[in-house]
Amino acid sequence: MSADVLLGLQWGDEGKGKIVDVLTPKYDIIARFQGGPNAGHTLEFNGIKHVLHTIPSGIFHDGNLNVVGNGVVIDPVIFKKEIDSLKKMGVDVKAKLYISKRAHLILPTHRLIDAASEAAKGKDKIGSTLKGIGPTYMDKTGRNGLRVGDISSPNFKQKYEALVAKHKQILAFHNYEYNLAELEPAFFEGIEVLKELKHIDSEHFINNAMKAGKKVLAEGAQGSLLDIDFGTYPFVTSSNTVTAGACTGLGVAPGNIGNVIGIFKAYCTRVGSGPFPTELTDEVGEQIRAVGREFGATTGRPRRCGWLDIPALNYAIMINGVTELMMMKADILSEFDTIKVCTHYKFKGETIDYLPYDIIDEAVEPVYIEMKGWKVDLTQMDQQEQLPVELTDYVKFIEKETGVPIKVVSIGPDRKQTIMMNEVLVK
Ligand code: GDP
Ligand code: IMO
Ligand code: MG
Repeated sequence: MSADVLLGLQWGDEGKGKIVDVLTPKYDIIARFQGGPNAGHTLEFNGIKHVLHTIPSGIFHDGNLNVVGNGVVIDPVIFKKEIDSLKKMGVDVKAKLYISKRAHLILPTHRLIDAASEAAKGKDKIGSTLKGIGPTYMDKTGRNGLRVGDISSPNFKQKYEALVAKHKQILAFHNYEYNLAELEPAFFEGIEVLKELKHIDSEHFINNAMKAGKKVLAEGAQGSLLDIDFGTYPFVTSSNTVTAGACTGLGVAPGNIGNVIGIFKAYCTRVGSGPFPTELTDEVGEQIRAVGREFGATTGRPRRCGWLDIPALNYAIMINGVTELMMMKADILSEFDTIKVCTHYKFKGETIDYLPYDIIDEAVEPVYIEMKGWKVDLTQMDQQEQLPVELTDYVKFIEKETGVPIKVVSIGPDRKQTIMMNEVLVK
């Protein structure tokens, strides 16, 4: 059995959490492969709204297992909070959540360094979620990091102190003031909670499961345009958010990747700094933000909003090898008489259909086509046949521009507000 991958094709917050929750009954294992609590994955069902940060979005179902893979970075403080709130909801977390021994730990000092580094950048800041993601991945690649497996070592406290001593030097360099003693008790409480969970060699676990015919869904965090290699660097996160990240973040060989499910919003959003070609800084952008409730699930920050960007979408489809698309938040565009889609950019006097290397120092100017809006409330619909013709045209247009079928159109945040597109509109 191969592993399917589900990931975001834009700048994150595409609706990955919702779709993983919808698809979970088809899978035996849901596994997060990168990122950490910078992610906020929202699920809605039976009137409940829940945001997950580190724990895979399959956790609310029974009969499947959830794995936090080696590519993920875990903050024990946030992890404990997530577990506590799931327990309150009656979820038997211990029974269905396994953690890779190789996943790295976010220390309180990683969070402090994140804040110090952003403060030092001033107006050029990345707009990090300040969860310590960058510094933790830096310690991973710098070969200094602490891993979940270290928690069981008798030397854990010494290892912790040695890393903290390094971090104190960095914080002193930044002249950054902090009170570590205030932060440490919650960290060590979190470590105790982590100890109670099953620590696994996740690469063996997942490969054995696949050999035994189990179905695995790898859940991505962030989005392809935030990828450390292929995103809008340096305004990116610190991990590989693309399909290849599922190979390194879970130990799944490339040949064992099955379907690659690419999730995108019917428009675009971005939170934090960095280039965003189709951003709308006018009242249309504000309207999308208001109707779409575009505020960060992790930080509460307002998300920047704009029209769908086909060159950027095609870039993400190429890098990820997307085999099927899912379009989210179609209901939000019901507000508009006309909808614009960026099909090309003007760049250095030429019209191009791809995302160039540097769009920071030299901006691209989007070229739009305009389509008729559908102006119909979609939120109560439950089958493809009910969709208005203008929305069907929008779907067909995107399928034609990308060459990839759209298998789901999402029309609301709830599990049930999900239209399965049985008929592929464009071959
Ligand atoms: P993720 O990080 O990709 O899981 O996405 P987030 O949870 O950060 O952001 C997506 C937001 O849109 C959440 O508030 C979801 O509840 C909501 N959402 C998901 N799909 C839809 C949809 O089709 N329509 C509407 N109106 N909201 C949606
Ligand atoms: P999900 O999984 C949207 C953005 C931050 C910032 C940049 C770097 O919910 O889609 P970091 O904290 O990683 O150092 O921040 O990346 N970012 C996200 N934006 N959704 C996310 O996750 C994000 N995770 C990080 O806003 O611009
Ligand atoms: Mg999110």
